Amino acid sequence: MNKANDKRWARRLICSRTGEPGELDQPAFLSPAGAPWLVEYELDPSAGEGWKRSLAHRGWSLWRYRELLPIADFASRIDLGEGATPLIPLRRSAPAGVEVLIKEETGNPTGSFKARGLSLAVNRARELGAPGVELTSAGNAALAMSAYAAAAGLPARVAMPEDTPATVPERCRQLGAEVLTRPGTLIDAGAHLATLGGGYWNLSTLKEPYRVEGKKTMGLELAEQLGWELPDWIVYPTGGGTGIVGMHKAFAELEALGLLSSKRPRFVVVQMAGCAPLVRAFERGEESAEPWANADTRVWGLRVPKAIGDFLVLRALRETAGTAVAVEEAKLPEVTARMARSEGLRLGPEGAACMVALEELAAAGTISEGERVVLFQTGDPANYG
Ligand SMILES: Cc1ncc(COP(=O)(O)O)c(C=O)c1O
Repeated sequence: MNKANDKRWARRLICSRTGEPGELDQPAFLSPAGAPWLVEYELDPSAGEGWKRSLAHRGWSLWRYRELLPIADFASRIDLGEGATPLIPLRRSAPAGVEVLIKEETGNPTGSFKARGLSLAVNRARELGAPGVELTSAGNAALAMSAYAAAAGLPARVAMPEDTPATVPERCRQLGAEVLTRPGTLIDAGAHLATLGGGYWNLSTLKEPYRVEGKKTMGLELAEQLGWELPDWIVYPTGGGTGIVGMHKAFAELEALGLLSSKRPRFVVVQMAGCAPLVRAFERGEESAEPWANADTRVWGLRVPKAIGDFLVLRALRETAGTAVAVEEAKLPEVTARMARSEGLRLGPEGAACMVALEELAAAGTISEGERVVLFQTGDPANYG
């Protein structure tokens, strides 16, 4: 059998800040300008319709989009069944006249959308010769990386703040990873990781080019699930911002294939009032975000005081006429209970924060009647005990 992904359209890497090109099948971390690399594809508008038809014969996982993924050795890939999550309409809790669809990501391996990005990153690390993999994480990314590294037979090391709920380090250890915990935030955990040897490849958010490619599949799936008509709004719980950067990239690629118009959903970046560096920067009209001092939230996935791809998220917000909302933590319990009772949905705190943001935007008239909104419910609350 031909193992190669001979169908892939990936051609090279491009520095997201300077446009400088880089080689695709070489180890890659940050660009010489210190910015994230992104994968560039050669996309032919005449290939789009044929590609779309070929999807009908493929299995339901993110690997159905193989031409738009950078993997070189397709047949030998590590595949735990990531992607292909449902879109669930709200029946009773949507703001009046607004259609709300929940992209429910907890069915992914290890219970969160982090599986998508880490699947691609670990697969690429494996096929490009990494001796091991490591990252700093608020929890879900550590779980996902540990699982894919175990499946790939690669040693794994994860660093996280010491107040991360105990279920996360415990499960990472069960998955064979070495776990390091540090006082402080992700920034402190990352600084500690940088002092360690071993030559492991660092797969932390946007410090390598492939997690974005995995997260991009959320956008590809949305387009396909909605019959190639994107929603008016995408409400997304934003920490490092890989999902926003990835979906924005996915929509541009589908447009280049002739499958979408230039109309884009308006992104809503949702953060917590106790750690909202991107919201603050957006409100100030800044191009990048100052680190948030004394980050204070128990919505672990959103406790990200500094994102290396901040300028890419802020650019995506501006390009889509989007907005950014900081949510009060005290509002989460009520919305979580209401969504369970009235919709049968068990939201994680990040998904609940998005629901609060949606209700506030609808009350303010920013999101209006007749509009369709996709809201991301990104992780299983059980991951945090
Ligand atoms: C459940 C959950 N939602 C959202 C986020 C933020 O995701 P992103 O890095 O794509 O902004 C995280 C990150 O840890 C998470 O675990």
